[in-house]
Amino acid sequence: MTGKRILLVIGGGIAAYKSLDLIRRLRERGAAVRCILTKAGQEFITPLSVGALCGERAFTNLFDPQSEFDVGHIRLARDTDLVIVAPATADLIAKMAGGHADDLASAVLLATAKPILIAPAMNPMMWQKAATRRNVAQLVADGVTLIGPNVGEMAESGEAGLGRMAEPLEIVDAALRVLAGAAGKPLAGKRILITSGPTHEPIDPIRYIANRSSGKQGHAIAAAAAEAGADVILVSGPVNIPDPGGVTPVHVNTAREMLEAVSKALPADAAIFAAAVADWGIASPNAQKIKKTKTGAPSFALSENPDILATVAKLKTGRPRLVVGFAAETETVIDHAKTKLKNKGCDWIVANDVSPQTGVMGGDRNTVHLVTAEGVESWPLQSKTDVARHLIDRIATALNGSSQ
Ligand code: C5P
Repeated sequence: MTGKRILLVIGGGIAAYKSLDLIRRLRERGAAVRCILTKAGQEFITPLSVGALCGERAFTNLFDPQSEFDVGHIRLARDTDLVIVAPATADLIAKMAGGHADDLASAVLLATAKPILIAPAMNPMMWQKAATRRNVAQLVADGVTLIGPNVGEMAESGEAGLGRMAEPLEIVDAALRVLAGAAGKPLAGKRILITSGPTHEPIDPIRYIANRSSGKQGHAIAAAAAEAGADVILVSGPVNIPDPGGVTPVHVNTAREMLEAVSKALPADAAIFAAAVADWGIASPNAQKIKKTKTGAPSFALSENPDILATVAKLKTGRPRLVVGFAAETETVIDHAKTKLKNKGCDWIVANDVSPQTGVMGGDRNTVHLVTAEGVESWPLQSKTDVARHLIDRIATALNGSSQ
């Protein structure tokens, strides 16, 4: 957080006393903190204590000629990297959702183009009220990030329920995530495991069974995850493309080796299984090259390979929070994907049509459908790099999702 500028808007709630600690926590991490105290906020803490902790006077009044001449609401809105609203009262949330600007805090919140993080704090009844639900949903749709509220006892009434402001350190962590996201690093601090490419199942030391997977889509996902700031482990079968920069590559040949490498790479926050793992291997590969004989072609018994995706998705302990599988199909793509989602126990399936006429296998473009418990989204034809970036965006949103 060193060198980051944070504008903290302190609303009128008993939780405002925790915002004094928040100022200290932000400053000890190197952030410069400026504060706006609403009129109601001043009923709980004073501009003097806020100013003393910030090392700069607290701003309170939209119509104070001195402030407007000196800094002004537009400069307050602009000269910051992040705006935090803590406590965000039901009233402040309603004003933000409605675009009001009749005091300094709401005017700055309306005027800013910078990311906004709110830490709601209110009585559980107020939090549950339809009006607050609507306003919060509106703010989330507008791109505002939420932290909390938590379940706890209310200071005023002793009532328990959802409405207690998140603790200062939780708000600091959320602020770090938002700042990382604003810097294009929404997966900073997250560990992402990706499988890619085909597997080679040996017949003898020279020959193998394989498929046409190029690894382009899986590698593009690994590259996009690294770009998004994740710590990426890419477990790849044999491919003819280079390892993307900034990832930890693990090279394997067979499905069994892939499962072993994946198990070793866990835990992870999310795992994306883009590899085209061979369903079967040769039950007993020959130790030596099999010779051509006059008695005709040899026959081989096949043995089923472990299903890596299903194994990880069904882990009782250490399951990544988000497990994503791929479904490469040549017909009834979406129906097969829906069945696969259930059978494999994963959270999402990225389904694509790999019929030869699509040119997807080995090609640079892909048309995919994202199948989740919520439904099916069909994405337009785009480059594998763009598919990867969109998927990583979605994964970042899922992993960073606010606790409501
Ligand atoms: O069952 P099918 O191979 O179509 O499922 C595809 C998905 O399952 C992909 O995400 C693939 O990486 C994964 N898979 C796996 N291990 C296998 C077979 C498939 O991880 N043995």
